[in-house]
Amino acid sequence: MVIHVGIRIAPSILSADFSCLLDEIKKVEKNADLLHIDIMDGHFVPNISFGAGVLKSLKGKIKLPFDVHLMVRNPERWIEVFAEVGCEFISFHQEAAVHLDRVVNLIKKRGIKCGVALNPATPEVMLNYILSKLDLVVVMAVNPGFGGQEFIPGVLPKIRNMRKIAERENINLDIAVDGGINEVTAKKVVAEGANILIMGSFIFRHPDPGKLITELKNEFNERRAM
Ligand code: DX5
Ligand code: ZN
Repeated sequence: MVIHVGIRIAPSILSADFSCLLDEIKKVEKNADLLHIDIMDGHFVPNISFGAGVLKSLKGKIKLPFDVHLMVRNPERWIEVFAEVGCEFISFHQEAAVHLDRVVNLIKKRGIKCGVALNPATPEVMLNYILSKLDLVVVMAVNPGFGGQEFIPGVLPKIRNMRKIAERENINLDIAVDGGINEVTAKKVVAEGANILIMGSFIFRHPDPGKLITELKNEFNERRAM
C-alpha cells in the first residue's frame, strides 16, 4: 500500500501577470509546494508561452522548485536545456513523444523526476509498460494550450484507474491533475486519488493567493487524516 503524505499545490504561472512575474510568484512562494511552468511551442498546442530564459532569470530569486510541463513536439530536444536550469520535475506529453522510453531515460539520467502528461482523450493504458520508471503522471483535465478552461469530468475514472494501478504495482507515483481545478473540482480529483493539484486561474485571480493555497491544503490534509 502506497501512502501519500498530503496534497501538494502547484500554481501555474501561465495565469500570473507577466508584467510583474516575480511579485506574483512571491504571493504564493511560502504556501505552495511547486511552481508549475507551462512551456508551449505553438505546434503541439495552439499557443506559445515562454522559454527556459524566463526560468533562468527567476532562478535564485525564488525558493519554489520548478515543475516544468512541456507541451511541445519533439520533447527530447528540450530536456538538456531545462535540466541545466534545474527542475524538480520535467513532464512531457505521451502524444508528443515517438520514443517515450528514450525521453524518460534522458530526464532520469539528469537526476530529475520524470512525469508524463496524458491529454483528456488518451487512455491510461498508454503508460502500461513505462509506469514503473515514472515519478509522476499529469492527467490533463482540459485540452492543453490555455489557462481558464472548464474541467472535463470524463477524466475522473482515469485518475481512479491510475491510482489503482500504482497501488497494485506498488509504485510510489504522484498523480497531478492539470486544468480547470478550483475548490469544487479539486475535491473530486483528490477523492479519485490525485495528490498534486495544478492550479492557474483559480489561484492567480484570487485576491489573496497565498491564503487560498493554505486553506485548500489544510482542508485536504485534514480530510485525508480522518
Ligand atoms: C493548460 C496548462 C495548465 C494551465 C491551467 O494547458 O497546462 O497548467 O495553466 O490553468 P487553469 O488552472 O486556469 O485551468
Ligand atoms: Zn500545465
